[in-house]
Amino acid sequence: MNTYTDEPPQGAYRAGESRVEIEFRGVTKRFPVKGKSEPTTAVQGLDLTIRCGEIVSIIGPSGCGKSTLLNMGSGLYAPSEGEVHVGGERVTGPVRKVSFMLQKDLLMPWRSIRSNIELGLEIEGRPAAERCSIAERMLKKCHLDGFGDHYPFQLSGGMRQRAALARTLATDPQVLFLDEPFSALDAQTKMILQQDLAQMLFEQKKTALFITHDLIEAIAMSDRILVMSARPGTIIEEITVDLPLRNNPLERRKLQAIGPLAGRLMTLLKVGEGTDLH
Ligand SMILES: Nc1ncnc2c1ncn2[C@@H]1O[C@H](COP(=O)(O)OP(=O)(O)O)[C@@H](O)[C@H]1O
Ligand SMILES: [Mg+2]
Repeated sequence: MNTYTDEPPQGAYRAGESRVEIEFRGVTKRFPVKGKSEPTTAVQGLDLTIRCGEIVSIIGPSGCGKSTLLNMGSGLYAPSEGEVHVGGERVTGPVRKVSFMLQKDLLMPWRSIRSNIELGLEIEGRPAAERCSIAERMLKKCHLDGFGDHYPFQLSGGMRQRAALARTLATDPQVLFLDEPFSALDAQTKMILQQDLAQMLFEQKKTALFITHDLIEAIAMSDRILVMSARPGTIIEEITVDLPLRNNPLERRKLQAIGPLAGRLMTLLKVGEGTDLH
């Protein structure tokens, strides 16, 4: 049973019988290499299933195909083999119910923060009054009240990522693909943004696939962690984060069980055994 309630959860989130939201079936992605007959195999025979309302993190060495995975999930790249399904439909092109957030905020420098937040709504053809009220609500939710008329260059890195988050959520996507969204932020700003994101994802019952290099971030934010091998990337381990407080990563970080879980991830990633994580 789906255990989501308005109350803070006492146990770990159990997606259980909720419907499948994202599915990769035997997905391989090859890229042609200039001047070579052999292509690069970025992702090899990858299967994954994510249920509605789950937050799943992916960790793995650099270049193992994590971003490629998200690009296939959102329909930007077509798999060379296999199938990707989102929301019960096979992905064959850009998917509307998906929103992306990246390490770079990608805000348009010539648009105000408010107008950046409205961008996706504009593309969807929503009327001006509706765009304005959604933007206003998102500014509040993302703690940017009073900054709607500022331009990106006037904001700190953390605030720009808040604006990027507001833009990502403004179109109310059911699925979020987050590609290392906080990796350029300082440690404390990162923790505060993690908290805001976790609360919003929880309240709005979003499904998210979250790529990170930060093992504690993965544990603090997610229901499950998938560990990928070096290229050609495939999933080598799946860890259920059997901890409470998924809607409160600041508190979850303080739990004693974090240490052993982080240790397990370090072993899987061979951290400290001469394998570079970056
Ligand atoms: N558009 C592309 N064209 C050619 N090769 C690519 C392209 N995108 C990714 N790759 C290659 O696929 C592999 C996986 O890349 P990527 O998914 O970005 O890894 P990660 O996000 O895990 O660091 C890398 O070897 C990369 O060079
Ligand atoms: Mg990447």
